[in-house]
Parts: sequence; C-alpha cells; structure tokens
Amino acid sequence: MWIMHKPYVFIYGASGVEAILNNSRNLVKGTDYGQLHSWIGLGLLTSSGSKWHTRRKILTPAFHFKILEDFIEIFNQQSQKFVTKLQKYSDGKSFDIFPLITLNQPWEERFAQDDPHSDYVTAVHEHLNVLHAFASDTIRERRKEYKQLKAKRKDKSEDEIIGKKKRQAFLDLLIEYLEEGETLTEEDIREEVETFMFEGHDTTASGITWTVYLLGQHPEIQEKVYDELESIFGKSERPATSEDIREMNYLECCIKESLRLLPPVPIFVRNLTEDLIIDGYIVPRGTDVSIFTYNLHRDPKHFPDPLKFQPERFFPEISAKRNPYAFVPFSAGPRNCIGQKFALMEEKVILSTFLRKYKVESLETMEDLKVTGDIIFTSS
Ligand code: HEM
Repeated sequence: MWIMHKPYVFIYGASGVEAILNNSRNLVKGTDYGQLHSWIGLGLLTSSGSKWHTRRKILTPAFHFKILEDFIEIFNQQSQKFVTKLQKYSDGKSFDIFPLITLNQPWEERFAQDDPHSDYVTAVHEHLNVLHAFASDTIRERRKEYKQLKAKRKDKSEDEIIGKKKRQAFLDLLIEYLEEGETLTEEDIREEVETFMFEGHDTTASGITWTVYLLGQHPEIQEKVYDELESIFGKSERPATSEDIREMNYLECCIKESLRLLPPVPIFVRNLTEDLIIDGYIVPRGTDVSIFTYNLHRDPKHFPDPLKFQPERFFPEISAKRNPYAFVPFSAGPRNCIGQKFALMEEKVILSTFLRKYKVESLETMEDLKVTGDIIFTSS
C-alpha cells in the first residue's frame, strides 16, 4: 500500500512473519517510530545498530528469572491495593475497568495508585515534560540510594559485590554503569527509563484488561480458572509465590489466548535495510514492513474457528505442533520483547489475585466491541 509517498507492505501470514523476524538482519524499526523520539528518545525499543546491540547486552541480565522473582512481592502489593480499590465498584453495577488497571502498574507505586488524575497517568497522554521530570526524579533517587549502598558495602569482599552485580534490577544496573564511568550518560539512562515505562505500562494493562474482558464473556472458562486457583490456594488469602505462579497453567493459557485474539501490540514495523524475499516476492530496501499480529493471530490455518476464545489451544502439546510464527504477541527473534516474562508474571499475579476475590461479567459481546488500534490496543 502507498500512503502518500511512502510504500508499506503489510504482513499477516506466518511464513512472511518468519522471513522478517527469524533474521539477524533488517533489525531497524519502521520510520514512523520517529514520532516516539521526543518521548523515549532512542532507547532499546527505537534505537538500532551498535547502540541497540550494546544496550540489549547490558539490559538482558536484568530480566533473568532470578531478578524477576524479586518483583513478585511488588506485584502482590499492587494486586492487593487493586482488589481493595475495586471493593467500592463491586455492587453489581457495570463500570469501565481499564483505567483502574492502567493505574495499577508497578512503576506508579509512588504516584498513581489512588489517583486516576495523577501526574504520571495524565502525562502519558498529555505532557512530555512531566514524564521527563518523573524519569529524572526516579533516576536521581536511585543514584542517591546506590551511593549509600556502595558506602555500606565498602567492607564486603569483592566476591560478594560481584555476586550482587549479577542480580541487579534494570535501573540499578544502568546506574552502576553511569557511576563507574562505563559508557552511559544520565541522558542515556533517562531514555531507557522512559522506554521501559512506556513499553511496560499500557501493554500489560491492555493484556490484563482483555483477559478480564474475555473471561467475563465466558463464565464456564472463568470457573475453570477459579478451580485451578482454588486447588493452589484453597480459601487462603495469602500472596502468590513463584511456585504458585508456575502452577497457574490454565490461567496462563487464558492469558495467551487473550494475547492472540486481542493483542496489546496489534502492529509493529521494520524498515528494511536490505532487500528481502517474502513469500516469493522481493521487497526492496527502504520499505516499511508492518506485521499485523491482530490479523496474523486470526488465521484459520493455525487457529481453527479463530474468533472463538479457546484457551486449550495453548496446551503445550497443541502449541508445540503449531508454526511458532503464527503467534507473536511479543514479536520474535533478536528484537523480541525483553519484558515478556516480566509481563506474564505480572499478569498472572494481578489476575489471580483479582479472580480469587471477584467474579466478573462483561456486558459487550465481541461483535459489539469498539476497539482502538493505537500504539496499544484498547477499547474505545
Ligand atoms: C503484555 C505485555 C507486553 C506486550 C504484548 C509486549 C509486546 C512487545 C512487542 C510486540 C515488542 C516488539 C516491538 C517492535 O518490534 O516494535 C516489544 C518490545 C519491547 N518490549 Fe514489550 N511487551 C509487553 C510488556 C513489556 C514489559 C513489561 C516491558 C518492560 C518491563 C517491555 C519492554 C520492551 C522493550 C524494551 C522492547 C524493545 C526490545 C528491543 O527492541 O530490543 N515490554 N514488546
């Protein structure tokens, strides 16, 4: 398709998606990502070449499963606040849950939990300078803490310090690079903090909201999730542990089936740096190639009766037989989502806490749903 003077190629078949993503070339994002630069600069999502490669290498250890386990406590705290906040809405009348879930992200602990009009939440949609100030404040505070911690650690052996270094969360890891004079500036870090706030914020909220929506449309499936949660927790209200999270297999299938039908990132784009053969066609260098997960995930060749919400499609033995490029909510290949395990874990903790306490019913059917495919996929 030509849009004005620019050629776009839209891909929504698994073989085409494989040609683009299963590839260590053509890693540059689409030209329209330039619109994000005033907000998130050239951080991990938008940068390319050696800058992207170096940052990806620095940041990958921060998403090691051992680090992610440290977040469980925060996810549990956020989940508890969330279900408590929902109490005043649990009177049987309908309400829009999306804004309440959006507020419930770990980044916003200090700012937003109780205030739908908090600076950060409003600024995401309106004012960039508030966002930049939020990121700078966060960095300044963590730098102060880092210095204090370092002074305390002075007495400890080098081994202990290196042991700790291997298990640092993402911001601390970046701050160490800054403080130790290794390659990063404060501006570089702000760029990454804003990238991660952006990428980890509305995406996960959208994923959680759509799962709630779909479970609210399918009471029999919601019941099965509840049974699974009851078998893990009984009637106890204790917080979820990493062991519990691993046992939430059916809930995980529901989350994946929701990512299939209503993917939070409905489209992402690469700008070809060299000619590429896609399904037998030569697509020339310079073209923006868009992957439409929304359409891709509804291909009846890979998902029979595609509009049906059927979590069983993600039972491991069934998934194993499917072309892996037929389902790419987190993209795939070298530029896949670095936060995908974080996101799944967060979704599981929030959704399980919610579903242990509440039963949900969604009023609008899939056919009546009005959706907005902005950068993130939401209801409108
Ligand atoms: C359900 C939640 C999420 C979904 C569906 C999702 C989806 C995606 C997709 C499709 C991409 C590729 C984008 C592109 O090629 O332009 C991506 C990249 C990325 N995601 Fe996520 N994401 C989610 C959650 C998160 C979270 C929680 C974080 C951070 C904690 C995160 C951080 C990133 C980053 C930094 C990139 C860029 C990676 C790179 O280019 O090397 N995402 N995500």
